[in-house]
Amino acid sequence: MDYDAIILGGGAAGLMCAMRAGQRGRRVLVLERAERVGKKILISGGGRCNFTNIGAGPTNYLSANPHFAKSALARYTPRDFLDLVESHGIAWHEKTLGQLFCDGSAKAIVEMLLAECAKGEVEVRCGVEIGEVAHDVSTFRIGDDSARSLVIATGGPSIPKMGATGFAYDLARRFGLKVVEPRPALVPLTLGGEDVLFRELSGVSAEVVANTGKAAFREAALFTHRGLSGPAILQVSSYWRPGETVRVNFLPGSAAGWLAEAKRSNPRTTLRALLRDALPERLADTLAERCGLERELGNQPDAALREVEARLAAWTFHPNGSEGFAKAEVTVGGISTAELSSKTMEARTVPGLYAIGEAVDVTGWLGGYNFQWAWASGVAAGDAL
Ligand code: FDA
Repeated sequence: MDYDAIILGGGAAGLMCAMRAGQRGRRVLVLERAERVGKKILISGGGRCNFTNIGAGPTNYLSANPHFAKSALARYTPRDFLDLVESHGIAWHEKTLGQLFCDGSAKAIVEMLLAECAKGEVEVRCGVEIGEVAHDVSTFRIGDDSARSLVIATGGPSIPKMGATGFAYDLARRFGLKVVEPRPALVPLTLGGEDVLFRELSGVSAEVVANTGKAAFREAALFTHRGLSGPAILQVSSYWRPGETVRVNFLPGSAAGWLAEAKRSNPRTTLRALLRDALPERLADTLAERCGLERELGNQPDAALREVEARLAAWTFHPNGSEGFAKAEVTVGGISTAELSSKTMEARTVPGLYAIGEAVDVTGWLGGYNFQWAWASGVAAGDAL
């Protein structure tokens, strides 16, 4: 059959794009390989879908071109998506740091998108293996179906066991579009060498400031049996490159000189006791042991205290890798933004070809930012094609 647009991938971005285009009177076909649409939406946010972040703006995204996302994000805001959610009577709450979640199941978000697609008479086909994509000057052809627009919305390769692949990149390359090297992001980091001792703390978490290079995040860090995880570590993992260190401030609330101050007010106290007041016991004990400051503070010179304080404020880990795409929530990199119009997501050199969502080299922080990009880029294309 002939359509105005064929959208490859019925995930967050593809469904949003389909509903917008369908409601503008376009004849739209969504082709989804899985047996159902929106599988990542269903498992997101622990099943409650952190569907946006009320503070989402361009600075919350990584891309080779940090300006690229501005236009789409400005034209479809978190408030716009929230209006849609509320118009479907879906109850929601803000959890922390502007992160908005469904009160109930993430299923409500998928049902909402499908209901909106139905309003636009979008045809959704699941369980479809996409074969050859043929293209002449003005038409894209897949099997017996054809359209003047083709949208790549098949996401990134994170979590292959859910069927994620590099399909979007292969297809983009076939059309001559460049791809920025994809890397796992929002992913736990693994520890080896001397750091391996910290794996004994598996299950312990604490609020820290974690940073790598200029990126710093104040959130929880979690020790795992393989290394480091928790929101603060997942956030810095998107910026981390093999060989780089990750520094952790275990006492982000402490003023400079706190240890010398503690010595003066209570010379008989120990570092271990002070750390136990601020941190989980097992972590406090490990840090105190590794600092080698076991005796009462009154017996320690101020210079030694300053040294320990500095170490606790910038504990240096040397991750030996990450848990890879198998555990990565998203992918950094993807179809180069240099190839696309930031207004419409259309390829500059291939009229009628669009790319949206995670397939594109725009990656959000943890906390609802990735869905906001999927919605905004889906709208940008859906309103243009
Ligand atoms: P998405 O992956 O959603 O959709 C792509 C679709 O294309 C899929 O349905 C896939 O089956 C289909 N497809 C793939 N290859 C195909 C092919 N060859 N042919 C046809 N179809 C094909 N983000 C956030 O903001 N808040 C959150 O709470 C979470 N939580 C979360 C949890 C977990 C465990 C993961 C893995 C990820 C998240 N994310 C998240 C990230 C978020 O899920 C992600 O950024 C978006 O789903 C990206 O939307 P897309 O539509 O681009 O890809």
